[in-house]
Amino acid sequence: MKEKIEALLNEVRSLTASSADEVEQMRIKYLSKKGEISQLFNDFKNVAGDEKRIVGQMLNELKNVTQQRLSEMKEAFENQVSAENMVDMSRSESPIEFGTRHPLSIVKNEIIDIFSRLGFTVAEGPEIEDDWHVFGALNFPPEHPARDMQDTFFIEKNPDILLRTHTSSVQSHVITTQKPPIRVLCPGRVYRNEAISYRAHCFFHQVEGLYIDKNVSFADLKQALLYFAKEMFGEGTQIRLRPSYFPFTEPSAEMDISCDLCGGKGCAFCKHTGWVEILGCGMVDPAVLEACGIDSKVYSGYAFGMGVERIANLKFRCKDLRMFSENDLRFLKQFDSAL
Ligand code: PHE
Repeated sequence: MKEKIEALLNEVRSLTASSADEVEQMRIKYLSKKGEISQLFNDFKNVAGDEKRIVGQMLNELKNVTQQRLSEMKEAFENQVSAENMVDMSRSESPIEFGTRHPLSIVKNEIIDIFSRLGFTVAEGPEIEDDWHVFGALNFPPEHPARDMQDTFFIEKNPDILLRTHTSSVQSHVITTQKPPIRVLCPGRVYRNEAISYRAHCFFHQVEGLYIDKNVSFADLKQALLYFAKEMFGEGTQIRLRPSYFPFTEPSAEMDISCDLCGGKGCAFCKHTGWVEILGCGMVDPAVLEACGIDSKVYSGYAFGMGVERIANLKFRCKDLRMFSENDLRFLKQFDSAL
């Protein structure tokens, strides 16, 4: 018995393994229920009484040494595996290119930044909408052409579910869920069923503004828009408001800014008028306030909406609107410095 233990002890001390699997095989060989060492423990009962103490000690030592050796080897393999998974610190530093902000994001953020100085906060709404939020609440009569299949993308032949055609739909959400004073900007993507060309796309981006409080006047609207134009296009920028029509504003207007290419003298860019159109606006129609549960005798408000692509075009002079959605890095990287 003693010799057997000695022999096993020597054997175990010089064990080596080439894989974690092999270590496991060894554990089975020595330490499992039917393993060699366990067998010795079974035979222990036959050891003569005066030998029991010394043999017992030897057996325990054998067991401890074996367990330790096996766990040392196991650990070595585990460390090896995690080292393989580690980041290779010896790799040469490959040029990881920083992304650049998308020109439309740059412009959108600038619009938000300018109006936030006037107290506007941002509100967002869903792109998939129902008829009421996009048209109904905003005073579009049932037969209005914007509801037509030509302009609006409807979902699954259900004319009540559609892709919003303007971010004015967020107004409907805000007015029905918040109490005045309300001063929000609603940026987002909108969809219209238009033929794609250098100047039109089936989706684009808008930023809508809405201000509702007591005694809000058209002069407030004009002043806010003049401030915006000067901040966005430079101190010398002039604005001009032309009467227009939107179902949800009364009176309505379209705003032009003086052409900053020719300084208002007239050039090909402004079609020799000296002015370029940038947004639609007006006083919120009382019918819209009432439809959304706001007392139009107490409150009034203004709204405006602009296309982000349009503003980006004016700022960056991009000839083809499609560039904004084609993800061509050569194009997108040019706006690095605009950050
Ligand atoms: N929603 C209008 C459009 O998409 C723009 C607009 C917004 C006009 C708010 C007036 C007031 O053309």
